[in-house]
Amino acid sequence: MQSFKCSAQDLVDFHGGEISRELFVNADIYREEQERVFARAWLYVGHATQVRNPGDFIVSKMGEESVILARDRAGEIHVFLNTCRHRGMKVCRYDEGNTKTFMCPYHGWSYGLDGKLIGVPDYQEAYKPAFDREEWRLVEVAQMAIFRGTIWATWDKSAPSFEEYLGEARFALDHALCPWDGGDGETEVLGSTQRWIIPSNWKIVAENFAGDALHVVSHRSVDLAGIGPSEGEGRRDDPGRLVVAAYPGGHGVMYGVRDATTVPNDYRGSRITAEYFRHCWKKRRARRGPTADIVPLVGTIFPNMSFHGQQPRTILVAHPLGVDRTEMWRIYFTDRGAPAEVKDFLRRYYVRYAGPAGMTEQDDMENWNYATAASRGVIARQYPYHYKAGLGAAKTSDLIPGIITDHPITTEQNPRVLYQRWAEYMDAGSWDHLLGKQSVIR
Ligand code: FES
Ligand SMILES: [Fe+2]
Repeated sequence: MQSFKCSAQDLVDFHGGEISRELFVNADIYREEQERVFARAWLYVGHATQVRNPGDFIVSKMGEESVILARDRAGEIHVFLNTCRHRGMKVCRYDEGNTKTFMCPYHGWSYGLDGKLIGVPDYQEAYKPAFDREEWRLVEVAQMAIFRGTIWATWDKSAPSFEEYLGEARFALDHALCPWDGGDGETEVLGSTQRWIIPSNWKIVAENFAGDALHVVSHRSVDLAGIGPSEGEGRRDDPGRLVVAAYPGGHGVMYGVRDATTVPNDYRGSRITAEYFRHCWKKRRARRGPTADIVPLVGTIFPNMSFHGQQPRTILVAHPLGVDRTEMWRIYFTDRGAPAEVKDFLRRYYVRYAGPAGMTEQDDMENWNYATAASRGVIARQYPYHYKAGLGAAKTSDLIPGIITDHPITTEQNPRVLYQRWAEYMDAGSWDHLLGKQSVIR
């Protein structure tokens, strides 16, 4: 297997639109990116509604590593590495719950919700000389941020603030996370997180949701066969004019831009659901004015958090497990105050659409998995992938922040920008260097 000895920039020809297959099959590159990307970037950890009350926790992941997201007695939110400071055992082995402490099952050390080491069995007799327990707290992230209910963290003290990290992609995430401004304004998680493993590299998932508009052809089959998520009780609405926007931080979004003739939210299978969303749409327009018509349909916040901003309203995190193994976590949202029939309708619609059994997700996974398998061979991996669509077509607009390519969608601009940013992470020594680099994306 070829090792990763060259510059990452040699593998990503941004201006020529060619990207080496090594990015997706080389185990050395994979190991490097755990340090250079996942230990430095801001990563999505969870949603504040999953830890509403003191003592609530969920176990999440940052890159390959298990982390605990917990709310302490004082109401503060923390993100800790899920590993005991004594001999490394997982201190929390549940997916979610409410607790007073995290007790390690190995030798019984226990930690408070604020990470302090508060209990060591037989401390006086067994641990001589005495040690300073304050120094042996759970390892906590360097920075944590909450944005519209989503919780983000980084291991890097020198990383910029989360808002700076997002840059102008803030516009998309802001609209996506509170898409309808409906109900009582609060969001809730619908059901549990769906988790499954696929045999492909995490980056191909990230690029797909960053705005690979060309792949919609692969979703025609389920609609032609009449088993797609839009059939029967599903949804038919007009996304409007499609525009893709890329951001120097590596983020990419596909927007639908509506006008007065667009008819949103025709939920044929449920009159109450259709009425609810029409009502929410009116509220959204009243509150947001003209920007209400710009809907972030789908996007990726670099490196591995993807979202749908309309329906389904969902976050997908592609956690790396190995060069050709990715653990997919999908979580669904709804308005907390929505009628029960709306929630029930959405639950069925979401599961039919995405997740391991979702009709549309299955199309995508089939492509990613077979692309990975077909790229591993010593011959196949010598041939780069083609990302040339829309080279030179990008521009800026007053309407949507970022570097955009407008209708008709014939561009691979957003995947190109994602890989350019990936190469900058792989090659840059410090955040000063990374921030200085992020202007050249056209
Ligand atoms: S590994 Fe946790 S107490 Fe020993
Ligand atoms: Fe897709």
